[in-house]
Amino acid sequence: MINLTLLGATGSIGKSTLAVVDLHPDQFNVFAISAHTNWQQMLELCKKYQPSFVVMTDENAAAQLTQQIQDKTVVLVGAKALDEIASHTQTDYVMAAIVGAAGMSSALAAAQAGKRIMLANKESLVLAGDIFMQAVKDNQAELIPVDSEHSAIFQCLQGGRSGLKKIQLTASGGPFLHTPLEKLVNVTPDQACAHPNWSMGRKISIDSATMMNKGLEVIEAHYLFNLSSEKIDVVMHPQSIIHSSVYFEDGSTLSQLGNPDMRSVISYAMSYPNRIASGVPSLDLTQNSPLEFYTPDFEKFSCLRLAFEALKQSGSSMGTMNAANEVAVDSFLKGRISFLDISTVIEKTLNEAEHFYPSTLSEVIHNDQSARAIADKIIKSYA
Ligand SMILES: NC(=O)c1ccc[n+]([C@@H]2O[C@H](COP(=O)([O-])OP(=O)(O)OC[C@H]3O[C@@H](n4cnc5c(N)ncnc54)[C@H](OP(=O)(O)O)[C@@H]3O)[C@@H](O)[C@H]2O)c1
Repeated sequence: MINLTLLGATGSIGKSTLAVVDLHPDQFNVFAISAHTNWQQMLELCKKYQPSFVVMTDENAAAQLTQQIQDKTVVLVGAKALDEIASHTQTDYVMAAIVGAAGMSSALAAAQAGKRIMLANKESLVLAGDIFMQAVKDNQAELIPVDSEHSAIFQCLQGGRSGLKKIQLTASGGPFLHTPLEKLVNVTPDQACAHPNWSMGRKISIDSATMMNKGLEVIEAHYLFNLSSEKIDVVMHPQSIIHSSVYFEDGSTLSQLGNPDMRSVISYAMSYPNRIASGVPSLDLTQNSPLEFYTPDFEKFSCLRLAFEALKQSGSSMGTMNAANEVAVDSFLKGRISFLDISTVIEKTLNEAEHFYPSTLSEVIHNDQSARAIADKIIKSYA
């Protein structure tokens, strides 16, 4: 029986992970789960899975849950407790599915404890890729990507990387693939969250609409597969059937295909190197033709351009970009700035922030905080 610690249990990835667990109760035990504020859903999950530990990072939510809980589950509170359950000696696998920079420390704790990390929280690599990958190496942790594109590349590289020429991440283009730039001025958060293929949390849905999500994935791919930005390509593919491809020197291309459903990716990470049922039906290619492909529009999707630039500049730029994006997306969701302001806020923050090469986690966190303060100041100036 594999003991699973699920960070971000109430989220979109968290729910899909539990759906896979439900198919294989003889193989996986839900050992620990976490959420931020949603104590009501956590109460239901505790009743169903009887985990040993539950972490609520929000204090009020933890108090509410503690009052209501009747099982033997221990309720822990605060961000530090995430590190504890991620590195607990009884934890075998960690699903790192907290959204945003808040998920970085616990993912790193899992790496330092030598766990199998199923990494959905791409921000861990964007903010602290060098530190994170070193911790994985030093502690013989096992890092399995939980992002459909990176899982696809990981799967395509199972035969080795001899003659590897480049990788190509596919991008659906989100809800605005065919919307002209000038029509994006007045889009609402609900319009931007209405992804045509994937059902995801609101923050990543906005990132998909701006294509910052693809930008973060380019950086994620750089660290996961140790490739320079010149060897990472992006192609628009609205059907999201080809999840990504690897190009080889001999003219061959390997791609991984499937229905757009994260349960396939999650079950692969949970069963690697084997495969188990995920609940996702097999692909019927006759129902998905034609498959379309386009070159990305870097002017309309300026967040993708900014991510490539931040990766080339390296160092603190990637964390600065991520922090400014988190602040800007939150402000957009709250109606404080427009959709197109998101990339402007990020670019201005990058121009204003100090550029350096963080070598410790505290430097990474310091940079994240100062970039957030700069982005906040820029957004206030819009009011
Ligand atoms: N969704 C996808 O299809 C998908 C695909 C690939 C990669 N990812 C990545 O996976 C991660 C999770 O995405 P998601 O779509 O599942 O997000 P989501 O639905 O928004 O869920 C986020 C989870 O994180 C918790 N959380 C939020 N803020 C937190 C904080 N400050 N401290 C601790 N926990 C916090 C939430 O708890 P509450 O519910 O209590 O707020 C929830 O459990 C992201 O990094 C995303 O980029 C997602």
